[in-house]
Amino acid sequence: MRSWCVKIPRGEGESARKKLLEASLLDISLKIRGEGEYLLLPVNDPEAMGEMDLMLADFEERDVLETDYRRLVKVPSDLAGLLPTSYDVVGDIAIVRLVDELLPFRRNIGDAMREALSRLRTVAMDKGVQGEFRVREIEIISGGPSTITMHTEFGLHFKVDVSKVYFNPRLASERWRISSLVGRGETVIDMFAGVGPFSIMIAKYASAREIHGIDMNPEAVALMKENIVINKVKGVNPLLGDARELIGSLPPADRIIMNLPHSAHEFLEIASMNLNPMGIIHFYTICEREAIDGFVGDLVSELKGKGIDLDLMRLEELKTYSPTMSVYSADLVLIHRPCSPV
Ligand SMILES: C[S@@+](CC[C@H](N)C(=O)[O-])C[C@H]1O[C@@H](n2cnc3c(N)ncnc32)[C@H](O)[C@@H]1O
Repeated sequence: MRSWCVKIPRGEGESARKKLLEASLLDISLKIRGEGEYLLLPVNDPEAMGEMDLMLADFEERDVLETDYRRLVKVPSDLAGLLPTSYDVVGDIAIVRLVDELLPFRRNIGDAMREALSRLRTVAMDKGVQGEFRVREIEIISGGPSTITMHTEFGLHFKVDVSKVYFNPRLASERWRISSLVGRGETVIDMFAGVGPFSIMIAKYASAREIHGIDMNPEAVALMKENIVINKVKGVNPLLGDARELIGSLPPADRIIMNLPHSAHEFLEIASMNLNPMGIIHFYTICEREAIDGFVGDLVSELKGKGIDLDLMRLEELKTYSPTMSVYSADLVLIHRPCSPV
């Protein structure tokens, strides 16, 4: 279907999507689509877009039922505007955040979501990600009781227990991007591997020599081992333990993935010391949008003072985290480092 839309660089896509959604200007009956380095976001009221440049493009329509559980919910009309417009789906489990005012209606909301999305077996309420294993505290509000599910992305199948391990379904395209960058014969270290989605996607679609997937959550490593078998991939070495302690015992890598956005910066030095010159670090961080350039710049300068020369090749905003913060992905190349720690 043809619609007016805005064309946004991919790196700014998530915050633009959120802003349009909050202003009820995103046409949620149509699927956002990519065009090279840009995303096309369909809008439902071109006149309300003010000065923004608009263009016409063709879009695929969404299954209306999938977007409209809100029509089935019975909550007081003054609370209807607080119903979430987005939620994560891991396999057949939806994970939704609710504001306090909606808590008395949570079962009703969960049931409506399952009624609208027939593929959902369970709806879980997200009470926040906690602890060093980054596990989500959840309460099942409809369906259940099992919290184990099988999530599919890019033809891969990941067994996930959403109550025991971290898994972010919104990183599928990022994982695809990284796997498409991996060159033949590379040694890859996935420092915070979880149930193995980065490692296994690389093993499946790239020609790395070896991929070391480290995680300190025993449940995650057990599931990573199962996922290696489920996806019939070779070359992934699952390791249980603290990446800080284990990384030094591994061969120097050509590429290191650091998907621990709250504290990856604490591990950047030790990761750099186990990277080959011209090797790449895929670094993920959560930061105030206004402060991100300074944050990455300061990290790079601090390491330069220790003889570690990293160059920022690419910085992308992956998703919004709060009204002022976002999750970023930074690709850093190692120009030079000392032979041993200083
Ligand atoms: C944000 S999750 C990322 C999981 C995975 N990369 C993904 O995309 O699903 C971070 C993971 O790092 C693990 N972790 C946290 N601190 C760690 C450490 N010091 N060493 C190894 N793993 C750690 C947690 O258990 C968690 O599974």
